[in-house]
Amino acid sequence: MCGIVGAIAERNVVPILLEGLRRLEYRGYDSAGVALLDGQGNLQRTRRIGKVKELADALQDNPIKGVTGIAHTRWATHGGVTEANAHPHFSSERIAVVHNGIIENYESLRTDLTTKGYGFTSDTDTETIAHQVHFELDNCDDLLTAVQNAVKKFHGAYGTVILDKNDPDRVIVARSGSPLVIGLGLGENFIASDQMALFPVTRRFMFLEEGDVAEITRTSIKVFDSAGLPVEREVKESNLEHDAGDKAGYRHYMLKEIHEQPTVIRNTLSGRLQDNGISANIFGHGADELLAKIKHVQIIACGTSYHSGMTARYWLEQYANVSCNVEIASEFRYRKSYVHPNSLIVTISQSGETADTLAALRLAKEQGYAASLTICNVPGSSLVRESDLAFMTLAGAEIGVASTKAFTTQLTGFLMLTMALGKHNNMSQDDHQHIIKALHSLPAKLEETLQLTDGIKALAEEFADMHHSLFLGRGDQYPIAMEGALKLKEISYIHAEAYASGELKHGPLALIDDEMPVIVVAPNNELLEKLKSNVEEVRARGGIMYVFADKEANFKSDETMRVINVPHCESAIAPIVYTLPLQLLSYYVAVIKGTDVDQPRNLAKSVTVE
Ligand code: F6R
Repeated sequence: MCGIVGAIAERNVVPILLEGLRRLEYRGYDSAGVALLDGQGNLQRTRRIGKVKELADALQDNPIKGVTGIAHTRWATHGGVTEANAHPHFSSERIAVVHNGIIENYESLRTDLTTKGYGFTSDTDTETIAHQVHFELDNCDDLLTAVQNAVKKFHGAYGTVILDKNDPDRVIVARSGSPLVIGLGLGENFIASDQMALFPVTRRFMFLEEGDVAEITRTSIKVFDSAGLPVEREVKESNLEHDAGDKAGYRHYMLKEIHEQPTVIRNTLSGRLQDNGISANIFGHGADELLAKIKHVQIIACGTSYHSGMTARYWLEQYANVSCNVEIASEFRYRKSYVHPNSLIVTISQSGETADTLAALRLAKEQGYAASLTICNVPGSSLVRESDLAFMTLAGAEIGVASTKAFTTQLTGFLMLTMALGKHNNMSQDDHQHIIKALHSLPAKLEETLQLTDGIKALAEEFADMHHSLFLGRGDQYPIAMEGALKLKEISYIHAEAYASGELKHGPLALIDDEMPVIVVAPNNELLEKLKSNVEEVRARGGIMYVFADKEANFKSDETMRVINVPHCESAIAPIVYTLPLQLLSYYVAVIKGTDVDQPRNLAKSVTVE
């Protein structure tokens, strides 16, 4: 959420900052800005509402240059989408600041700083950082000390980079609750909120930890912990293969990422799934001993990741014989919940930085869970670092704001967790063999399913003028219906709701008429006959049905029902297989409607604010 890039070099850093912002744009695209210090101590700034392209055009029309610079792409939290609220923010044309996160006590800081004579020009919480640092600087005359003193006054979350016009040979960065990474160059150094922003200039990274403040010059990096003591942070070579900056010929990142699913699931399984099962150590060192005592699983996550947790509950209870609760992280973190004996807390997250999920994990760790596990796509992210165990999904960087391949790799990880826990809880040999066979067949099944594209494209034409839609599923397909509805609403802006189809007659049936498309996911499983009855209830009331069904489920297309036959698959992987047609449907509806598929309105990837 919001993107930060910074650089201190001997060359003009504008191209580095702009390319970094382009790579981070998926994190926020309400406005973008850059502040630069040139070799003569001049501080200049350009900001624009809208996407990074608007900023790049402005810089082309009125070029500014600098050897030290900070840049930001914003997802508005405090203050509307205006140029005045765009970062970088200044204090008296001397201090420049970019910031991710939220300073929760900004109102009282603002009142205090206003009393001290600082004039505010924006409605943002970030501007308080600039003025607070300026105030501290006036008292101590050292930028590093000023930032260390300032951050003590902030409540909330920040990843921030600060420049002082009068001290042009260093930048100061601070992190608490929002990620920041330092990229190491030769005679130049960089900063970003995500390493991917810096791939064109470096592959060597130092990840800051909670409470760290660092001083960065062209040739040195000094890190101090929250107590102000000097600390060493390891430098890591990034081996992320994916240069996600590239759409590989696809029109959108989302389409590329949908099509990558067979490959990334193959990668996620590779070396982890054997002919006879899995080794528990794929969840981390000592996982087998920790998992051996688990009798209950509590899953917490947000959005799409929450839907993968909802699906996993069916598997964990059906196959692994462990009880399981799933809760939205933002709810879990603010209520008193009961901790079952021998419970495992599982967080799920593509980014590993989602503020609510992280806060929920921290709370859970105080509550006496036996162990914590994260299923996550970003190595070194906060959730990975703060969990006892981690299963890394190998989806590669996901750029489309709407999550696709992260979701299906999470589900793949959950099937393996089901086997690991089932091993200690009397999972039947039949179920064990079924999941192994199903997982081995999964990548090829997904390749087959992607062949449905043409049929789905044609179907999408019928949706473009619709304003509402209903998604139905039963059992482990109910969360898949929920995920289908979320995908459709977030990228096509068509209102979509999902129901467990047995719930229809308890209210939602009242919505059915010939302007309400009803999308049904119907694998050939033990609930098929029940589902068919629900479908007839809708048909009898004039609803238009779009049914994604196993061929053997015997649905027939007619004037009130379009049937798309999905390749037959083992029941354990059906939730993963049926996800793909729903992703494709949302994608093509959005393309027909002409929405901004990769960067839908009002959203951003990696929700690092509450
Ligand atoms: C929807 C989507 C979001 C995320 C949610 C959690 O397509 O991507 O609902 O799933 O914001 O994010 P992570 O998984 O990064 O914790």
